[in-house]
Amino acid sequence: MSDKQFDVVVIGGGPGGYIAAIRAAQLGFKVACVDEWSNAAGKPAPGGTCTNVGCIPSKALLQSSEHFEHAGHAFADHGIKVSGLELDLGTMLKRKDTIVKQNNDGILFLFKKNKVSFFHGRGAFAGTAEGGYTINVSGPTTDTLTARNVVIATGSNARQLPGAEFDEKLILSNAGALAIEAVPGKLGVIGAGVIGLEMGSVWRRVGADVTVLEGLPTFLGAVDEQIAKETHKLFTKQGLKINLGCKIGAITKGENSVSVAYADSTGAEQTATFDRLIISIGRVPNTIGLNGEAVGLQLDERGFVVVDDECRTSLPGVWAVGDVVRGPMLAHKAEEEGVAVAERIAGQHGHVNFNTIPWVIYTSPEIAWVGKTEQQLKAEGVAYKAGTFPFMANGRARALGDTSGMVKFLADATTDEILGVHIVGPVASELISEAVVAMEFKASSEDIARICHAHPSLSEAVKEAALAVDKRSLNF
Ligand code: FAD
Ligand code: NAI
Repeated sequence: MSDKQFDVVVIGGGPGGYIAAIRAAQLGFKVACVDEWSNAAGKPAPGGTCTNVGCIPSKALLQSSEHFEHAGHAFADHGIKVSGLELDLGTMLKRKDTIVKQNNDGILFLFKKNKVSFFHGRGAFAGTAEGGYTINVSGPTTDTLTARNVVIATGSNARQLPGAEFDEKLILSNAGALAIEAVPGKLGVIGAGVIGLEMGSVWRRVGADVTVLEGLPTFLGAVDEQIAKETHKLFTKQGLKINLGCKIGAITKGENSVSVAYADSTGAEQTATFDRLIISIGRVPNTIGLNGEAVGLQLDERGFVVVDDECRTSLPGVWAVGDVVRGPMLAHKAEEEGVAVAERIAGQHGHVNFNTIPWVIYTSPEIAWVGKTEQQLKAEGVAYKAGTFPFMANGRARALGDTSGMVKFLADATTDEILGVHIVGPVASELISEAVVAMEFKASSEDIARICHAHPSLSEAVKEAALAVDKRSLNF
């Protein structure tokens, strides 16, 4: 095998791609990963959207801005007085950049450790080669690779609103939203989805007046209605101005501001002027420059690479994972698909359970869920029982000074199997794992109710919500 001939070439080094490459190498394959992302210094920055302009930098800023907000008022309740509180946004942004770089470097280290050959540049199909495919790499490095198996993991890009192209100065995608160099006085956000709420929270906490304009009449439609309602109340109380049912009209840029004309939920015409505008209305699959046409790669009408349940494309030996294929656009979903594909290439039975993929929105409080919502169960005509437990009645939450929200269990009315768990509250992102494990093992709410949970801990709220399914909460 020549040094440019591989068993597996992975195109894209985000969570789907780099994890697929590592797992394939663990399974004994000769693997290359091609990724085009460069940092400000022009050096390779693998990790994709997630590491560079997504999960990691957003969580860094969410943490920093939460500390700032707590120092501003929450510490006083603990008897800690803070005077002369000041925001050093430059340091906050630099810290975020350092964390991103640590992650980029970590992935390069993992490639070396696992003997994955890394190529910095854009990977494009050039055609078929004997027993496989030819991939051209262009950009910072130029190469021609061949492989029997190709994994497409090219991710997604922010969806543009027609007539309001991202300039990353006034009109910002997720990338610009993570790098605003001075706190905007007035920040507009179009789209009250995951990015809108997370980034809106960051900038509100450090002093921006944030207005969110959402097209749909319901808030967080994919979230359990009871949880969404509770969350809407909490965010509004925090000062996020959330306007539902808005029809966005013309977006006009001034020198240092941007105006948005919209019809509000009553149909009245409004115009709002902002110092910065984040547009977070979903993401679109990215196949730019992949040159799939060279090999007849099939895309659907929305631009996603067409795959079967096991991530096989229409081409033999070509697989696709992550944001570029159907399913939730989540890093952990991309990773699970990456692992499963590597294992399938090795003839094993890779498996992804789409019913137990957790969702988390990292606001404060955090929102996390797995499985079905109550409205879905109703729509499907499933007979269910529900149990809720508020964090207000949890000793650890009181000690933390963070009692907002609740845990909600939904279980089958006959078998008691857990069908969905929904949490809004402190570290919901961590608490949800117990529910994921339980559902993966097809546990009943009674199973969780009978498991010993440490006291005092937030996880007791999970146990209590499970008890509440059978109306036997002990502490509420
Ligand atoms: P990506 O991460 O997009 O990686 C694709 C990579 O491929 C990129 O590096 C790209 O440059 C490269 N590439 C594309 N085309 C080519 C080519 N032809 N040749 C070479 N390289 C190419 N998900 C979560 O689960 N939790 C979170 O907290 C979370 N937070 C987010 C916050 C924000 C602001 C955003 C925008 C997203 C967030 N996501 C989060 C979603 C998550 O980032 C994506 O689901 C995940 O990155 C998808 O992984 P991927 O590997 O499919 O694609
Ligand atoms: P989103 O799909 O979460 O939300 C988009 C929102 O914009 C929706 O509420 C939608 O109704 C609204 N919208 C769409 N078109 C509109 C229009 N023309 N006018 C007004 N509102 C409009 O998408 P978002 O926030 O851009 O995030 C993209 C994806 O990235 C998420 O779906 C998620 O998969 C991923 N992500 C995950 C995170 C996490 O796991 N914590 C964090 C951030 C992003």
